[in-house]
Amino acid sequence: MAILDKHAVLEKNVTLLAIFAFLVVTIGGIVQIAPLFWLENTIEDVEGMRPYSPLELAGREIYIREGCYVCHSQMIRPMRDEVERYGHYSLAAESKYDHPFQWGSKRTGPDLARVGGRYSDDWHVQHLRNPQAMVPESVMPKYGYLERRLIDGKHIGDLMRTHRLVGVPYTDEMIANAQADFRAQADPDADSDGLLARYPKAQARNFDGQPGISETDALIAYMQMLGTLVDFSTFTPAPSR
Ligand code: HEC
Repeated sequence: MAILDKHAVLEKNVTLLAIFAFLVVTIGGIVQIAPLFWLENTIEDVEGMRPYSPLELAGREIYIREGCYVCHSQMIRPMRDEVERYGHYSLAAESKYDHPFQWGSKRTGPDLARVGGRYSDDWHVQHLRNPQAMVPESVMPKYGYLERRLIDGKHIGDLMRTHRLVGVPYTDEMIANAQADFRAQADPDADSDGLLARYPKAQARNFDGQPGISETDALIAYMQMLGTLVDFSTFTPAPSR
């Protein structure tokens, strides 16, 4: 009873209540934030992660421009239902080259963090054209016009330079070859050795099956790499200190 009486003092004095509420929130904040500064796995490097290839980066720009993130998250939480549906939970390192990150805050559609390799390119082309043809109850808009918009990658080097400015380790060589790599990845006949040396696991082919490099090519190249860089059959989380 006595402790409740003391609490009554707080409840009747607004200033005192504000001070104590501030204290409680501060302590709560510190408890939540401080461990992140020491936790290994918030900053660990993970084998396989590399910056986006020029074509993937262009696709990512289209993904952002079209607002795909409004309906799709890219962060698999470490809960059983999520992991069973989408695969290994997302690692911090998997979005370390994302500026801005695409975690999203709404799932009208499924999480896309590991959508790479789940469907064929042709499935993506059909689905972008007319989602309802693939999933009748889908509320996803049609994006068929993207395949009629051809892109030449003229500004992709500039974009990579901008990303380098905010910390993505694009080398001078990568930037010098930006436009060549951009083309090589969308052309099944091109020599993709240089591309693969610079961007291991980059998938090079004609993604939309049509002549010319379209926004659909770039978008599918981006989606097909999502979640494919880290090999989870060998990945072990860094031990916490
Ligand atoms: C209005 C919300 C909305 C927007 C915007 C949207 N989607 Fe979707 N998306 C959905 C819904 C709902 C589904 C599930 C039904 C389906 O497959 O169509 C879906 C499914 C998908 C799938 C299949 C995922 C899976 O694992 O089955 C992909 C890939 C996809 N969307 C990509 C995109 C891309 C790329 C964009 C932007 C160009 C986009 N979506 C924009 C709602 C949306």
